Amino acid sequence: MSNKPIGIFDSGVGGTSIFKEVHMLLPNENMIYLADSKNAPYGNKSEEEIRNLSIKNTEFLLEKGCKIIVVACNTATTNAISYLRETYDVPFIGIEPAIKPAALNTKTKAIGILATKGTLSSQLFHKTSDLYANGIKVIEQVGEGIVPLIESGQLHTNQMKDLLQMYLEPMLKANIDYLVLGCTHYPYLIPMLETMLPKEVKIIDSGLAVAKQTKAILHSQNLLNSEINKPSIKLYSNRNVEVLDALLEGKFETAYLDF
Ligand code: DGL
Repeated sequence: MSNKPIGIFDSGVGGTSIFKEVHMLLPNENMIYLADSKNAPYGNKSEEEIRNLSIKNTEFLLEKGCKIIVVACNTATTNAISYLRETYDVPFIGIEPAIKPAALNTKTKAIGILATKGTLSSQLFHKTSDLYANGIKVIEQVGEGIVPLIESGQLHTNQMKDLLQMYLEPMLKANIDYLVLGCTHYPYLIPMLETMLPKEVKIIDSGLAVAKQTKAILHSQNLLNSEINKPSIKLYSNRNVEVLDALLEGKFETAYLDF
């Protein structure tokens, strides 16, 4: 079982930001990544639609024999992970906006969260926010339009910069000192965000935390790969494989999948 792959899925190419962290921390592991780009963005879909797509992605990865599933999508995690955990036997690792570290460390008592509508309206997000952000001003902002631009390969464009400018404005007015990236597509925007934010504003992205949690669970369940052959790593997309290749800088094997 331990030489079976780690399965990772996202609504599209964004989850590769998590894939890279997991691969860096666990270079010996076989991995399969699924980008459901044909159905992106998930962020504006209903909870039921997000759950059904998450089931479909999970079953694809389970058919490939995955020993653990990383839901590399905040929208799918916040809307579907409890269902997935109740339904399937393998462990699931999820990602949700890192409100806790931002709320614990803010000095200005104001933090910004940029995420999808599906994430910000989920029960899980509200629960976490109520738990940790008591007495703190949380500026929630839906990143409408960002995911489609990234999915079509328009990362470094003026259109993207204009969108970010618009979304950051209310946060900067509220004097935030932490910006939480609540969508796995957004870490690719960090270089652009850094040119737009004052130095005092720290950006929080949870990719490394997800990788560490994946390692901890594999270790505790005796599932770390003990073979030392070159790992098999494959990334599939059901839409623009070129966009996937560009974000991976051509370093990994990708393929189109009619899914
Ligand atoms: N990467 C996603 C997330 O973390 C999904 C965004 C979307 O498809 O709307 O939420």
